[in-house]
Amino acid sequence: MTTTTETLRLVTLPGDGVGPEVTSAALLVLTAVLRQSPVGLEVAEHPIGGLALDIEGDPLPRSSLDAAMTADAVLLGAVGGPRWDLSEVRPEAGLLRLRSALGVFANLRPVKVWRGGERHSPLRDERLRDTDILFVRELTGGAYFGRPRGVGGMAPNRRGVDTIEYGEAEIQRVAHVAFRLARQRGHHLSSVDKANVLATSGLWREVLTEVGREYTDVKLDHCLVDSFALRLLLEPRQFDVVVTENLMGDILTDEAAALVGTLGVLPSASGGGAGPWLYEPVHGSAPDIAGQGIANPLGAISTIAMLLRLTLLREDLAAAVEGAVGAVIADGPLTPDMGGSAGTGEVTSAVIEKLSTLVTA
Ligand code: NAD
Ligand code: IPM
Ligand code: MN
Repeated sequence: MTTTTETLRLVTLPGDGVGPEVTSAALLVLTAVLRQSPVGLEVAEHPIGGLALDIEGDPLPRSSLDAAMTADAVLLGAVGGPRWDLSEVRPEAGLLRLRSALGVFANLRPVKVWRGGERHSPLRDERLRDTDILFVRELTGGAYFGRPRGVGGMAPNRRGVDTIEYGEAEIQRVAHVAFRLARQRGHHLSSVDKANVLATSGLWREVLTEVGREYTDVKLDHCLVDSFALRLLLEPRQFDVVVTENLMGDILTDEAAALVGTLGVLPSASGGGAGPWLYEPVHGSAPDIAGQGIANPLGAISTIAMLLRLTLLREDLAAAVEGAVGAVIADGPLTPDMGGSAGTGEVTSAVIEKLSTLVTA
């Protein structure tokens, strides 16, 4: 997909819980933005997760996967929920298969504290101001996919096994993505690992150092994950681009939501495969608030900015969506997770209204 493409063929996978609520909000914003551009929009919705398990017995039906693989971009809501927690096949397995099939090994998770947004975090304003971190989470390797895995034996002697495995090439390719992004930003890359204990982390650190020799203009730091988790909250402004393996990246990016006060505003984009990028908010299906019309749509809406930037190469439109999101974070209206009393629809309309003053194309 390039700027010359006339129609964006988007596959949506709304999924479970608040997934459909925030996906609809994101689509409204995308439609409003593209109305101001020559690019048309074709949307095809497909089931994934618990919903797909219920109707087709598979959390990633073949038809959903085929549609995703051949789309220009894929927009996912969220999967999972307590209803399927004891099911033999979990909804989350569908999402992992999708990421793996698309080959999207680099998961970009920006965490930006907008001016005026500091008050939403329990952390002190002066520590947060202008925090702008880009996490690059390895997404298709590590403990999520390593074999052997499973639970065997008989109670009370059952044993569970997971395997963390990384090949050199898997580390190299995500390292290159992270170094290149650091080059476009503050020229500082922090690599997070547990090299004092884990063999895979020792290899991770060596490979990062080797790849770093090709990027002499980027300062590379190695951080141990436990102390990084603390520094992330105490001195977040010290970080620019952060690269880490799959499981650590999952945990640290939820922790980073404390910097903005809620998981509901964090977007992500995953790429690196031959096919389309996969766009999804960082949050899950939020069963505690699903169906109430109060899910924060700003994370899903911010994935639209990432799509405009990375799939459509329209930096101008991406910046306009981010500007509108930043303005709503500063001035409201806001959903309850940010201390407001607005619903998903009201916040979405406010973003679209701000957009109309920002998009000039
Ligand atoms: P969660 O991210 O769903 O929710 C964590 C907390 O954040 C909850 O208090 C929730 O209300 C709040 N929250 C999340 N999104 C919000 C939003 N848009 N607006 C306002 N508040 C929001 O995590 P969880 O409760 O641990 O997991 C619930 C289910 O979601 C699990 O089945 C899990 O596997 C799944 N999950 C899916 C994804 C995904 O599909 N990408 C990501 C994370 C978790
Ligand atoms: C995320 C989620 C997923 C992950 C789950 C639902 C498989 O927590 O996208 O952060 O762990 O990657
Ligand atoms: Mn997660």
